[in-house]
Order: sequence, then structure tokens, then C-alpha cells
Amino acid sequence: MTLAREEIGALSRAALPGEEALEARLRPATLDEMVGQDRLRENLAVFIRAACDRGEALDHLLFHGPPGLGKTSLAHVVAHEMGASIRVTSGPAIERPGDLAAMLSNLQPDEVLFIDEIHRMSASIEEILYPAMEDFKLDIMIGQGAGAQSIRLDLPRFTLIGATTRAGLLTSPLRDRFGWSARLEYYPPEDLERILARSARVLGVELEAGACSEIARRSRGTPRIANRLLRRVRDFSEVAEGQGSAIDCARARFALERLDVDDSGFDGLDRLLILTLLEKFDGGPAGIETLAAAVGEDRGTLEDVVEPYLIHRGFLSRTPRGRVATRLAREYFEIPLPDAADSQQKLL
Ligand SMILES: Nc1ncnc2c1ncn2[C@@H]1O[C@H](COP(=O)(O)OP(=O)(O)O)[C@@H](O)[C@H]1O
Ligand SMILES: [Mg+2]
Repeated sequence: MTLAREEIGALSRAALPGEEALEARLRPATLDEMVGQDRLRENLAVFIRAACDRGEALDHLLFHGPPGLGKTSLAHVVAHEMGASIRVTSGPAIERPGDLAAMLSNLQPDEVLFIDEIHRMSASIEEILYPAMEDFKLDIMIGQGAGAQSIRLDLPRFTLIGATTRAGLLTSPLRDRFGWSARLEYYPPEDLERILARSARVLGVELEAGACSEIARRSRGTPRIANRLLRRVRDFSEVAEGQGSAIDCARARFALERLDVDDSGFDGLDRLLILTLLEKFDGGPAGIETLAAAVGEDRGTLEDVVEPYLIHRGFLSRTPRGRVATRLAREYFEIPLPDAADSQQKLL
């Protein structure tokens, strides 16, 4: 089956409109309910405990990593564990400095302010955050021109939690103001099986163990994709067998194939990128802009979503001269090395 262009790699992308309510239902509420990321969870538990014992707001936290690994979930979990309420916004949603100033001045003591996609905040907005994060002060300008005056307001102690897929794009003054920054890692299949088993319970789906491990193995190490696949597999199963029927391994496999997820969990965009690199660029090195143009996808999606997983699986490496497909990728896709005679020909 061939997929429409916009469907290629669609499984890997951020939450789709209309999917958010469902995601919220599947979201873990406490640190204990959260599966995997053990080191991160243990550290967080210590910081939360220490802050609670001191009766203080938690230090500002930054979560970074590819989409769907649990950054937003963690922000809610932290607020819940602190017994604090959470206010949610995102870098692109804050249009003017005044929007952020209003938000900050409305915060209650110990509240959590969650800013998603924090790397997409403009410089003038970011500057308001510096004194707010460091000294819990808000500088505002009153009036205009020569008579303009800056006044400083006190803010309650609050916890800022930032999330980003691109820690590298954060300016260093902003990065330095987080007390702790943690990277979320891809999940091993065992963790994804536990997440799927829980989601199946919440959704009232009967998922056989074989089907669960099949979906887990092919979820690109990502809980969001695991949950998404589960729902799609359920759709296929319901259409074929009627509602309430259990999902077995064969049924899961059939659906996964229809969804264009291959045996190793690579989706269409993963394959497109690595095959383009292997076939059109002899395995690289190729610059990211060149590759983006060749696959017809924007550079940001390749860098945030596609490449991290290919790198994690050892199929791609980033070098100063560009992207290179590894031997593993060649073997997996059965593309032989360009032979010496061919390369000679090309040089002539
Ligand atoms: N560690 C986890 N345990 C259980 N479910 C998780 C975990 N991490 C993510 N999820 C699930 O994956 C979905 C996407 O997670 P989310 O926090 O929105 O990711 P991100 O903000 O990093 O893109 C959530 O609906 C949640 O159900
Ligand atoms: Mg998120």
C-alpha cells in the first residue's frame, strides 16, 4: 500500500489536533505511574522531596528530547507531586512581552509555569524571563520615549518548567537559569509494553501479550507512537472482527503493515531519509539542507524527529561534513557500497 505524501512519517509527529484529549487520558499522573526513565525519575523524586522538606518551590527544570517521550507528562507529574497547580503555555503562543508579563504577575506562590517549545520564544520575550527566573522580579516599562520609566515588581516564588525538542537552540543565558536540565531517552520495548498494557486497560481494549510486544517493538521507542499505533490497530481490528474482540499478534501485524511501519519500527520518513542518503548520495556525507530538499521535508522535522531515532539506532551519524549513513544502515537496506570503479567513473 502506498501512503499519501503527508502521511509519510505522520506517526512520528507531535500530537495532532483532536488527539490531545485522548493523550491527556493516557497521561500518567504520578512519578510512580510514569514508566521508564528511571534515573530521571529518581533524581526528580529527590529534588521534589528536598524542596517539599524545605517548604520551597522547586528549582526551574528543563526537559529536552524528541517528541512523544513524556516532557509534557513530566511537567504535569511534577506539579502534581509538588501539590502545586500548573499553568501551561508555549513559546509560539506568547506573542508579545506583555503576554508573558501578565502571566508571570498572575502566578500564585509555588505554582508551576510550563512553557512548551521554549526554544521558540523571541529574544525580547526571553529577556523578561531572566530576572523572573533568577530573582523573582518583573521589570516593566511605564510610559514611552524620554519619560519612560522602568519599575521592578516582586513575583512570588514559582517553578518554571521548560520543554524543548531542541536544547541546542536555547540561548545560553536561558539555559543557565535552569537549576536542572534532563534529557529524555527513547524507551526500550519492555517499557513500551508496560505503557501499552496500561493504555489498553484505560481504553478498554483487550490486547494479547504477543500483540503488545509486537506493537512495542515497532513504536520507534516512543510512548506517543505506541499509544497511537494501539488505537489504529484497534480500529483495524474492530472493522474486521467487530467491537470487543481481542487483538492478537496476527491482527497487530496486519495493521502495522497497513500503517507502513516496518519490522524494525521505521516509518516512511525514516526510510525515505536513509534510502535517499544511501542511494542518491552514496551514503554521504550530505548536508542537512541538501537532504531536506531531496526528501521534500523541512529541515526542522528531520533534525527534531527523524534523525534522533536513526542516530539512536546507529543508522546515521552527524559529522562536521554532513550526514553519513552507517554500515548498519547499508546492511539493513541491503544497499552495497558503491564499488571503487563506479566512484572512479563519477570523479572523471
Ligand atoms: N513514561 C511514560 N509512561 C507512560 N506514558 C507515557 C510516558 N511518557 C509518555 N507517555 C505517553 O505518551 C504521550 C505523549 O507524551 P508527552 O508527555 O505529551 O510527550 P512530549 O511532551 O515529550 O511530546 C502521553 O499521552 C502519555 O500517555
Ligand atoms: Mg509535549
